[in-house]
Amino acid sequence: MPPRPITAAQVRRDFNDLRAVVHYAKAAHELGLWASERLMIERHFPDRAAPLLEAGCGAGRVCVALHALGYQNLTAFDFAQELVDQAIALAAERRASIAFHHADATKLASHPAFASARFAGAFFLFNGLMQIPLRRNRRRALRQLAAVCAPGAPLLFTTHDRDHSPAERVSWRLEALRWAEGKQDPRLREFGDRRFSDDCGDTFMHLPDRAEILADLAATGWRHAEDHLRRELAKESASVRAFSDECRFWVAHRA
Ligand SMILES: C[S@@+](CC[C@H](N)C(=O)[O-])C[C@H]1O[C@@H](n2cnc3c(N)ncnc32)[C@H](O)[C@@H]1O
Repeated sequence: MPPRPITAAQVRRDFNDLRAVVHYAKAAHELGLWASERLMIERHFPDRAAPLLEAGCGAGRVCVALHALGYQNLTAFDFAQELVDQAIALAAERRASIAFHHADATKLASHPAFASARFAGAFFLFNGLMQIPLRRNRRRALRQLAAVCAPGAPLLFTTHDRDHSPAERVSWRLEALRWAEGKQDPRLREFGDRRFSDDCGDTFMHLPDRAEILADLAATGWRHAEDHLRRELAKESASVRAFSDECRFWVAHRA
């Protein structure tokens, strides 16, 4: 039987897998915020008392670190229950008062905790938005985030960038030829998708180009404000670079 195309349920199973849980919990305990994340959050979310939402919080790496920086009104959610449990445990250990929820970004507004929410800002860091299979579902998540944010609220998120280096550009030209001949990995749904396995388990990731994200923001109630490759923002430590590849930071405002 040919391998089946990747679904959101498969992605969720991958994140609930013990290998992924250990990987993200270790990062939440030991790594904390990247220099670039801290810079962008402090620049775009200066009010530490404002109600802020973290989507795809995983084991709490970002929100628990933000609480330690004085952010007082944090809500965070993830669709992988095992990771939410890790985040709750870490927040309790660090005495961080954060509201955690088990929720899916593509169905947020129908979740009872978010039905009447109006956040002053939101973030979806370390490429979580790009781990939602199919562009229409990523757009759905962006619309749902817009629905729970106040007009003008900033959204900060990261993605990979298919064009960020000559080697990437060559590899995507080859991938385009495979798609043109119908020889791509049959588990992939759209050009730009990648599925790989390493010692933290199986990972699905969509790698966009810049035009794709600009169009998605415009179509989903967000006004693009700025975007930068991580290397343009900060020099990250060796441990951050071992944990994560180059990415692009995006800032948009709720229209
Ligand atoms: C790369 S991990 C990053 C986790 C955490 N933000 C960090 O930086 O350590 C991406 C996260 O997005 C979550 N995620 C992916 N799709 C989601 C969805 N549809 N709804 C909510 N969370 C989602 C995953 O479960 C995972 O925890």
